[in-house]
Amino acid sequence: WDGRPVLAIESSCDETAVAILDASGAVLGERVLSQQDHLPFGGVVPEIAARAHLAHLPGLVRTVLDDAGLAVAGLGAVAATCGPGLIGGLLVGSGLGRGMALSLEVPFVAVNHLEAHALTARLPGLTADGAPFPYLLLLVSGGHCQCIAVEGFGRYRRLGGTIDDAAGEAFDKVAKMLGLGWPGGPALERLARDGDPKAHRLPRPLIGRAGCDFSFSGLKTAVAQRLAALPAPLSAGDAADVAASFQAAVADVVADRVGHALAVMPAARLLVVAGGVAANGALRDRLTTLAAARGIGFAAPPLRLCTDNAVMVGWAAIETLRAAAAAGIAPDELSVPAR
Ligand code: KG4
Ligand code: ZN
Repeated sequence: WDGRPVLAIESSCDETAVAILDASGAVLGERVLSQQDHLPFGGVVPEIAARAHLAHLPGLVRTVLDDAGLAVAGLGAVAATCGPGLIGGLLVGSGLGRGMALSLEVPFVAVNHLEAHALTARLPGLTADGAPFPYLLLLVSGGHCQCIAVEGFGRYRRLGGTIDDAAGEAFDKVAKMLGLGWPGGPALERLARDGDPKAHRLPRPLIGRAGCDFSFSGLKTAVAQRLAALPAPLSAGDAADVAASFQAAVADVVADRVGHALAVMPAARLLVVAGGVAANGALRDRLTTLAAARGIGFAAPPLRLCTDNAVMVGWAAIETLRAAAAAGIAPDELSVPAR
């Protein structure tokens, strides 16, 4: 890698995203298209997602190059998410990225999507000290819910994860029961503002148990039973109380599990939260309090960097290129996802 800018592609789920970063990690251009094609289906449809990436990605690459004021020949490397994710979208993004790198004769970096989320906190300017290792990452999105010990570049240890639904999935399913549409997390949070979090005593699955695993399906079932017992049609007040009680239960569960993760990772000086559910104010408040009580820092990247985006892919690629250079590894070897 000659240090010229890196173009990065993210297409593992329903966000089509492209970013260009310079060697220091500064963002020269960035766009995210959130596919709206899935709304009528109440969830991401893989076939539709892949076709939407195919339709939009080449144009988006052109636009971001223009935003950055760069010709394609000005790129020093190309990166793309190569997994985990929906294979159709991964093939579209990695195929275009590899093809560009091949024709430009620059390195192609295959990026692991979870690693990209894990390293986002280290983007220059996000935290005062650049989030030195080790730190604890709580990744909470529609598809992921896990605690990861980030011990160094390439050194990630999964301390625990969900044994059933992801946190965002639970928000979306409860939102659906409340008739809030999809994705329901943001709407549920808005509704919860008018409710009493103590109105319903809902279960807190796994709280107090050893380990750092999560479970939300019992909570979801309990919400369904409460709703069935409430007078129909559901009043606005009852709906808000259920939403607030559910959100409080999720925040309690997550705070307890993260507390356990911090206990087994005494070297962590920082708690980082990422993923779409990191947008939730009640959850952020709980995690802020928890970190303060443990005397460690708390970092929540701005929302556009918490949800799927290509800046994180570009940053993970830069960390990869730097580590490869330090270890004397040839950039060609970066084109195969190691994990
Ligand atoms: O990271 P993300 O954009 O996509 C993936 O799932 O990879 O996360 C989306 C998830 C959805 O389940 C959505 O309902 C949830 O994050 N979400 C929220 C909030 N904003 C988004 N959940 C709770 N409160 C929010 N404010
Ligand atoms: Zn993601």
